[in-house]
Amino acid sequence: MNRNFKEDVEYPKTLDRLDPLRQFTHRFYQTKGEIYLCGHSVGLASIDAEKSLNDLLEVWKKEGVRIWMYNNYQYVKYSSLLAELMAPLIKVQPNEIVISGSCTSNIHVAMCTLYKPTIKKYKVLVDDINFASDRYAVDSQVRLNNLAPSDAVKVVRCQGSFMKEDLIINSMTTDVALLLLPAVYYKTSQVLELKRICEKANELGIIIGLDISHAIGVIDLDLQILNIDFAVWCTYKYLNGGPGSCAGLYMNKKHFKLSPGLAGWYGNKDENRFQFKQEFDHQRNANGWQIGTPSLFSMAPLKGSLEIFNEAGINNIRKKSLHITAYLMYLIDTKLVHYGFSVGNLREDEKRGGHVSIIHVDAQRISLSLKSRGVVTDFREPDIMRVTPIALYTTYLQVYQFVEILLDIMKSKTY
Ligand SMILES: Cc1ncc(COP(=O)(O)O)c(C=O)c1O
Repeated sequence: MNRNFKEDVEYPKTLDRLDPLRQFTHRFYQTKGEIYLCGHSVGLASIDAEKSLNDLLEVWKKEGVRIWMYNNYQYVKYSSLLAELMAPLIKVQPNEIVISGSCTSNIHVAMCTLYKPTIKKYKVLVDDINFASDRYAVDSQVRLNNLAPSDAVKVVRCQGSFMKEDLIINSMTTDVALLLLPAVYYKTSQVLELKRICEKANELGIIIGLDISHAIGVIDLDLQILNIDFAVWCTYKYLNGGPGSCAGLYMNKKHFKLSPGLAGWYGNKDENRFQFKQEFDHQRNANGWQIGTPSLFSMAPLKGSLEIFNEAGINNIRKKSLHITAYLMYLIDTKLVHYGFSVGNLREDEKRGGHVSIIHVDAQRISLSLKSRGVVTDFREPDIMRVTPIALYTTYLQVYQFVEILLDIMKSKTY
């Protein structure tokens, strides 16, 4: 896609006319007069998500308990249905995905099965700029194994704003049993060079876990090639599943034979579940890691939303995301630098995810001023505004208008 961007207002209108994904904009609910640039946090509702949620409600209204038998047990197997739609986004087998719980609880689910510390190999490798909840989960897992986080959690310290892959790779000593890293950093949008990291970890027999919350639905991931052991992710961000929608867990099929560390009746084989035997006999696929009854109302919007992703194609989504974020960075460089703004993410396409980090000493106050003018972004300490034009529903004109509003705030000093 051409990146000879121009500054004038006609230019984004032309880009919108030529945008191959433009028809999807109309499938999302956007409040008139508002510019929503916060899809990295909570994605917008779509007509499709609303329909799949309403379909569930209608079946419940008519069927009551018979909802479980409805349409050949569709809702009993709902996680599998969603996994079919999710799998193309990360290039794994659908039976390696289960949709349940939250991103953090899924770290516990995976680690309770895969983290088996021994005297010589017991450490968990993490970094100090990942989303803190992941660290809380790791520390508590270590404690559950009667180990001290101060010894058993090995922290790679970021030097500067971005993580250097070599720091991670050089920290992979033979005493490391498991690592947990993000695919994309939530603050800076940095995409880790996972190929190199995973090759080394595989070589050393380290169990690899990834948090792909800020990657899935916006970058084109191939987890199969990386040969990782597990991944976890939120579905309410780029996947537009609705606030608090059930999270994802990928479990590499090589682990299907392992007994789930946190067992529950829904992990039983389908044919055993309603026999209520006292012995747990887990499904030999990712569904074996389900614990309780599926939270259908926190899953249903995902069906409609994921159908949009499959219709649009993740490669097309990534292409537009890179282009529209490049356009935003161009406008910051040409119009906003003078007012103390700078781009706080890496510039190379392969090193940046879906959001643009805009840095300004007064970022917090500016975010509030934007909010009062109908622009939704967010602020992260100490000076970062995260701004995300979403490929499926943000127009180039909205990006242009956002920058014009920022300019006006700065010129009028209304922040
Ligand atoms: C990277 C990352 N991991 C984990 C979480 C926490 O997810 P959950 O609340 O589903 O556990 C978040 C939430 O924003 C996140 O950004």
